[in-house]
Amino acid sequence: MALAPETVPDAGPGDESFPRRAAEVRRVTCNRGGPVLVDGPIEVCVGDGPPERIDRFRVAICACGQSGRYPLCDGTHRRL
Ligand code: FES
Repeated sequence: MALAPETVPDAGPGDESFPRRAAEVRRVTCNRGGPVLVDGPIEVCVGDGPPERIDRFRVAICACGQSGRYPLCDGTHRRL
């Protein structure tokens, strides 16, 4: 089934915000060897833990797993 042009898939049909409107789509920027940058605000979960809301304009999510502030990047990846 094709989606209407103004919609894109989100978390899934169980999510009441599904499908998210295109104007609400967030950009995720992947940098090899560095953090994943996500346009905020976002909620981030670690495993099955509770969501933590982060109200920053852009959030750097650790992709190396070595951050002392995981799941947020603290720059440790630069020393690896
Ligand atoms: S990506 Fe920056 S500390 Fe892991």
